[in-house]
Amino acid sequence: MDSVSLSSLVDQAKKAFSERFGGEPEVVTAAPGRVNLIGEHTDYNGGYVFPAAIDRYIVVAGRRSDAPSRLVSLEPGLGEAPAFAAADLHRREVQGWAAYAAGVAWVLQQEGFEGVPDVEAVVASNVPMGSGVSSSAALEMAFGKLYDALGRFQLSNKELALYGQRCENRFVGVNCGVMDQMASAMGVAGSAIFLDTLTLDLEPCPLPHGLDIVLCDTRKSRKLAGSEYNERRAQCEAAAQALGVGLLREANLEMLESAKGTLDPLVYRRAYHVITENARCLEFRSALKAGDTELCGWLLRDSHLTLRDDYEVSCRELNVMAEAANAAPGCIGARMTGAGFGGACVALVQAEALGDFVNKASAEYVKRAGREGAFLVCRAVDGARVVESNL
Ligand code: GLA
Repeated sequence: MDSVSLSSLVDQAKKAFSERFGGEPEVVTAAPGRVNLIGEHTDYNGGYVFPAAIDRYIVVAGRRSDAPSRLVSLEPGLGEAPAFAAADLHRREVQGWAAYAAGVAWVLQQEGFEGVPDVEAVVASNVPMGSGVSSSAALEMAFGKLYDALGRFQLSNKELALYGQRCENRFVGVNCGVMDQMASAMGVAGSAIFLDTLTLDLEPCPLPHGLDIVLCDTRKSRKLAGSEYNERRAQCEAAAQALGVGLLREANLEMLESAKGTLDPLVYRRAYHVITENARCLEFRSALKAGDTELCGWLLRDSHLTLRDDYEVSCRELNVMAEAANAAPGCIGARMTGAGFGGACVALVQAEALGDFVNKASAEYVKRAGREGAFLVCRAVDGARVVESNL
């Protein structure tokens, strides 16, 4: 299924490329979206995360061109972006979806790479937008691979991931961590990747046979995500400072409890989530390796609870979806995934119960949330790559 859907995206992008620009693209790249199993809002605290790249891709068909760069998206409602010149970019100057492409070109220039090319490019995607599966990181990685191939920069995927994060932080203005770009760049087929966001050490952990990852989309698009996100990050920094550590990763519950009297109660709760979530992520890795699916389920459900009650990044629809999924047949465990404030839950589901799971969870969600959700079974795939090249 992966190769079929990817190859049809590649065909769509190439066909649209020759219709819009004439001739053939020089390079076609693909970068997957991601779903995070556990380790939420830990990455900007130097903590652990456990995402998988999923078989939903952004494909870019591109060719070097004279300035300005012209980018076209085949996503309904996006279309052709305002043109920009790669050699003359300024922070936050490019808005909308093209900012994730322009921002990567800008970062490469800031890093001293010469000859970052202007391009004509077409983007085809089956990564759902606004569902919390990192369509923006996938765009950054797909354009990163395109610029890398055309400019012959010979960057590793890990380097591209760091540049993608810099694009978000400095060009787009979202203070995100490195999880999404690392997942899209470094994904491994059949595995979730356990990542230490401080050292960038990465361990692919095979997903057990007979378990499916199901993305349970609330279809409630994310609101206020940027400002609330940056606020949470600032609260974590305040907590780290109050606990006398550089990053919350270095703190433990004992330290937190002994400082409780002196901490702002809100900052205490934010830190409580991060510290316990980090511990859960480590425990989840051991449980997954040991095949202890019951413990995996507990950890997923607990993660949702502290995200809901202490970190306060959930919303009614996410809570209803998590409850509906957790109560449905075959569910090992479910929780909200990604930044929050809308988007999706992730559920681990016994493959043999998949049909029942989706029927029950979707009916319950409609009944209680008053809107339809969407359920996508995801396979873990390899990270960003060049799919075709005529260079
Ligand atoms: C967003 C950010 C990530 C991470 C998650 C929350 O997806 O881009 O860096 O912080 O939220 O875990």
